[in-house]
Amino acid sequence: MSIETTPTTRRQFIGTTAATVASTGLTVAQSANVAGSDKIKVGLIGCGGRGSGAANQALSTKQEGVVLHAVADAFKEKADGALSNLRAKHAEKVQVDDSRIFTGLDGYKKVIDSCDLVILTTPPGFRPYHFEAAVNAGKNIFMEKPVAVDSPGIRKVQEMAKIADEKNLKVVVGLQRRYQNCYIEALKEVKEKGIIGDIVSGQVYWNGGGIWFRDKQPGQSELMYQINNWYFFTWLCGDHINEQHIHNIDVANWFLGGHPISAQGMGGREQRTDAKFGQIYDHHYVEYTYANGVRVNSQCRHQSGVYNAVREEFTGTKGKIYLINSGACYAVDHKGNTIWKYRPSGEAAGAPEGEAKGKKARRGSDPDPYQVEHDTLQAAIRENKPLNNAYYGAESTMTSIMGRMATYSGKELKWDEVLNSKVQHMPAIVTAETEPPVKPDANGAYPVAIPGKPGVEIV
Ligand SMILES: NC(=O)c1ccc[n+]([C@@H]2O[C@H](COP(=O)([O-])OP(=O)(O)OC[C@H]3O[C@@H](n4cnc5c(N)ncnc54)[C@H](O)[C@@H]3O)[C@@H](O)[C@H]2O)c1
Repeated sequence: MSIETTPTTRRQFIGTTAATVASTGLTVAQSANVAGSDKIKVGLIGCGGRGSGAANQALSTKQEGVVLHAVADAFKEKADGALSNLRAKHAEKVQVDDSRIFTGLDGYKKVIDSCDLVILTTPPGFRPYHFEAAVNAGKNIFMEKPVAVDSPGIRKVQEMAKIADEKNLKVVVGLQRRYQNCYIEALKEVKEKGIIGDIVSGQVYWNGGGIWFRDKQPGQSELMYQINNWYFFTWLCGDHINEQHIHNIDVANWFLGGHPISAQGMGGREQRTDAKFGQIYDHHYVEYTYANGVRVNSQCRHQSGVYNAVREEFTGTKGKIYLINSGACYAVDHKGNTIWKYRPSGEAAGAPEGEAKGKKARRGSDPDPYQVEHDTLQAAIRENKPLNNAYYGAESTMTSIMGRMATYSGKELKWDEVLNSKVQHMPAIVTAETEPPVKPDANGAYPVAIPGKPGVEIV
């Protein structure tokens, strides 16, 4: 998706908004949520790595009057750390009074109340409930992927997506390949020009080395330990097939124009077996079948010393297309002749073969898709253009969760049964007093799904 991001002045904004309001019958407040103010007050909920990055991007757009107004994090030191980094980069735009630094698990409510645009970057388990609160409060939203960890969470996001539309809210989901030029151009080649013919199969990969681990702190409750170490717990993360591989699975849904109808797969823990690594697998392999019989094979792995790849490829009746987020995307016919090659804008575009080395060089002066997400969102708010990624965010998250359900159970599962599943990993309300949904046994081990064995509820 590529949306015009021409900067709009305050005067143009009011003019555009007034015209739109007159033609649609919406009130200014309904249509823009920043009416009567030169500012867009941004609130950050979840001040970790991605939240800090997203806030930096929100403050780096060309729109006037964007300020960081309030922040919330489960842990004070995370909120303070993010603020200190953001102040170093955006001294004037970080306008967060100490009274608007909220810590604990319900600080999100206060950020939502006091801001126009909220950034939802906590662990994904919380996302449906934070999204619900933001939509109910009528706020514009940037939310990171994945948007849930279980089917009830997906249904919540789908329901709130419709209400977001009714309220004319703008929503961007952090599946940044959808905002990246090489993918947008590749999709045009496939869909509009038909360079590889009809897609008959696909492969998507996120095979990498692994992820951080955060030790339990002295005196820390089991609940707060799990929240801090969220990656390893299904109720907070949804497993790495959901947290990370969703990017590649989303590309499959995007290029195929919808979700799979069934999935079956296998997975487990081979290298990352220590009890402290919670519940998640270190590898998943899933065979997704789409409505027209097209199969997409998905691999994701957190292991070292093995084959690594993060990319997607599709085979069509006339050729194959290879996609990678470095920008080195290309297509070949079935004889191996190159029929299309993505050329980034700028210097790298003209560089002879072999000279444009490295990620940055290959991207040339193409815009950073993480920045484009925020440029697009704020332009849509200022210009009152429709923008709601929550539908495809929910569909691709459900597809990733479906893959996890398939690998955990070892069964073949259908789309409707997984979407309607009542198995809820994430409690709807989590306070400091909530019992964590999973607990360690006497050996410190958490429940891990064993395919084919009863004991883990799947659907
Ligand atoms: N699009 C991308 O490329 C990309 C990259 C990295 C992360 N992400 C996504 O961003 C999200 C955050 O990931 P991260 O890497 O920043 O993790 P992180 O652990 O660095 O940050 C998460 C933050 O949320 C805080 N938090 C936890 N529960 C909270 C709650 N209930 N209320 C308020 N704060 C809470 C944590 O204390 C932490 O500071 C994840 O969904 C992840 O999948 C996306």
